[in-house]
Amino acid sequence: MLDRFNRNINYLRISVTDRCNLRCTYCMPEDGIKLLRHSDILTYDEITAFTRDAVAMGITKVRLTGGEPLARRGITTLVRMLAEIEGITDLSMTTNGTMMRGFAKELADAGLMRVNVSLDTIDKDKYSRMTRGGNLDDVLDGIRAAQSAGLRPVKINCVIKSTPDEKEARMVAEFCMREGLEVRFIREMDLAGGTFSVVHGGTGGHCVRCNRLRLTPDGMIRPCLFSDMAYNIRELGGKEALRLALDNKPERGTTNCTNGFYNIGG
Ligand code: 5AD
Ligand code: SF4
Repeated sequence: MLDRFNRNINYLRISVTDRCNLRCTYCMPEDGIKLLRHSDILTYDEITAFTRDAVAMGITKVRLTGGEPLARRGITTLVRMLAEIEGITDLSMTTNGTMMRGFAKELADAGLMRVNVSLDTIDKDKYSRMTRGGNLDDVLDGIRAAQSAGLRPVKINCVIKSTPDEKEARMVAEFCMREGLEVRFIREMDLAGGTFSVVHGGTGGHCVRCNRLRLTPDGMIRPCLFSDMAYNIRELGGKEALRLALDNKPERGTTNCTNGFYNIGG
């Protein structure tokens, strides 16, 4: 489906939860975030029905994000439901990887094709500090489990302060070379401040070529990460919400004062 600016919108990112087992300093405050009520969160049936409508309109690529998608109970069931939709040629997940070891095999069996794992440092102490308590070894186990389960390619998302030349980023890059992982460097963004830039090694952040729509856990379809524009799929119905999101997708991003990364998933 083409939008007003002739961009072919074929990529849907679905944030399945605003919860996460980590508290990365750039993503979430240590405590005191207001989480959604369970009744506000879309059911798996609602997400699947919406995705079916989106695929009928031209979406071919679907990614599950969060929060942490593996923190939502029964996530494998959702993967299986989505994998049954004909027309999805790329079904992926962005995860912090800490729980991946226990999930990799069942996710692959359910039809997940590949994963992106967030990893900003390979220093155990730094990782623990940056994530406020995460264990780097869990992530490394998770990455290996994903590779063994055939979730390929495993890509690493590495958030950087300014350039891929900084020390932490270079160490992550070397690790990825050794382990046969693809790495993408994402400059730390500020949604409310409107700070974003292109992703090194990826496709994000490039407004003229943006092919994305986003679905939040509470059923808002958002045509742009850096905009407050949002359409409620429960109120409008999936098809109408999709049409509005497509027709109003802004030419370029400005600011988003309504979301944090923990509920829109990047
Ligand atoms: N800037 C850039 N990326 C971010 N992420 C979370 N917060 C930010 C931020 N402020 C990233 C995570 C993960 C993806 C879902 O979003 O590191 O890779
Ligand atoms: Fe959780 Fe990802 Fe946010 Fe870290 S960046 S707190 S892993 S959602």
